[in-house]
Amino acid sequence: MAEPVCVQKLPYVVELEPGKYWWCSCGKSAKQPFCDGSHQGSEFNPVEIEVSEKTTIGFCGCKKTNNAPRCDGTHTQL
Ligand code: FES
Ligand code: FES
Repeated sequence: MAEPVCVQKLPYVVELEPGKYWWCSCGKSAKQPFCDGSHQGSEFNPVEIEVSEKTTIGFCGCKKTNNAPRCDGTHTQL
């Protein structure tokens, strides 16, 4: 199985308006932490998240989280 690119060993803390978002799981997007389509042709797919009210989320930047798309602290062990 291919390994994702570790973009940063820190979460991206982003304030979101209500709507749907796609977290980049492959680490190749130029629009981190969101997917820009760069995963095409690989085994990675973006992870969808829908928020119903304005909220702040810590998106995983290391791409090793076990609770995608959120940071679960795994980056501290890298
Ligand atoms: Fe990384 Fe789409 S660019 S999942
Ligand atoms: Fe990936 Fe925290 S940034 S687990």
